[in-house]
Amino acid sequence: MIRKAVLPVAGLGTRMLPVTKVIPKELLPLLNRPVIEYVVDEIIASGFDSLIFVISYGKEAILDYFDIDSGLKSFLKERNKEALLKLVEEVEEKIKYLSSVRQKIPQGLGHAVLMAERLVGQEPFAVVLGDDLVDSDVPCLKQMTEIYLRLSVRSNKPSLIALEEVPLEDVSKYGIIDGERIEEDLILIKRVVEKPAPEEAPSTLSIIGRYIFDPIIFEFLKGLPKVSGEYQLTDGIQAMIDEGYPVYGYLFKGKRLDTGNLKGFFEATLHYALKDSSLREVLRNFCSKVS
Ligand code: G1P
Repeated sequence: MIRKAVLPVAGLGTRMLPVTKVIPKELLPLLNRPVIEYVVDEIIASGFDSLIFVISYGKEAILDYFDIDSGLKSFLKERNKEALLKLVEEVEEKIKYLSSVRQKIPQGLGHAVLMAERLVGQEPFAVVLGDDLVDSDVPCLKQMTEIYLRLSVRSNKPSLIALEEVPLEDVSKYGIIDGERIEEDLILIKRVVEKPAPEEAPSTLSIIGRYIFDPIIFEFLKGLPKVSGEYQLTDGIQAMIDEGYPVYGYLFKGKRLDTGNLKGFFEATLHYALKDSSLREVLRNFCSKVS
């Protein structure tokens, strides 16, 4: 069983400024839910029960959202607001073991993951990035844990990363991999390059924010050089590959929505609005009037 998921949510959210000056990007509403809740739902539906948030100054509201607010509950109870109470309780009950650690100075994704080392301990764990939502029949992380368990029987301390084909003009937004296809949806990764220029990209297969790591990754994150003031997770992965630990890429089944920029966030809003029958009507009516 893989039980622990690390959610690095310490970033400043500069791609969504100015709103992120006062609201953590993870709490921006996608319809009536904060965007991070969609990710938490995927993690829980994949069988995880321990969520470790790597936060920073000013990000405590993310934890509060999933914690119990007794004052609000008594207020709703006294006024017989049963439906609202149920809505609040449903969120508060989602995460069984909720913990957090602070990344006091922003030093990149690799450093944020390393902050979770003590809480993770000696077991394989997931890293899930809150910007990337995946809408799929089988939750993306569940697809991955099933493959990971199979891989761990035949490989020594394997890791698994979710991949997606992207257009060549988008490779500079993501980590891009080079590798050898060993099954229809599985690749043995040889090289990872962080945000390459299109002419330098080894492929158009991008890393999305879903990883399952053996805890050996922490040893490699500790020895990293800083690149532009940051410790890159991608460099830790490359160091692990170079030492002979197998890292696999998995072409997941589902639709990925990158909410880390305004255009992607808007697309995700439309995607989920179209899945809701009443909002779909609102959107259709609105579009028929403007076009
Ligand atoms: C991070 C990773 C990158 C990955 C991306 C997925 O980049 O460094 O390798 O492709 O997440 O969303 P960031 O979006 O934090 O710049």
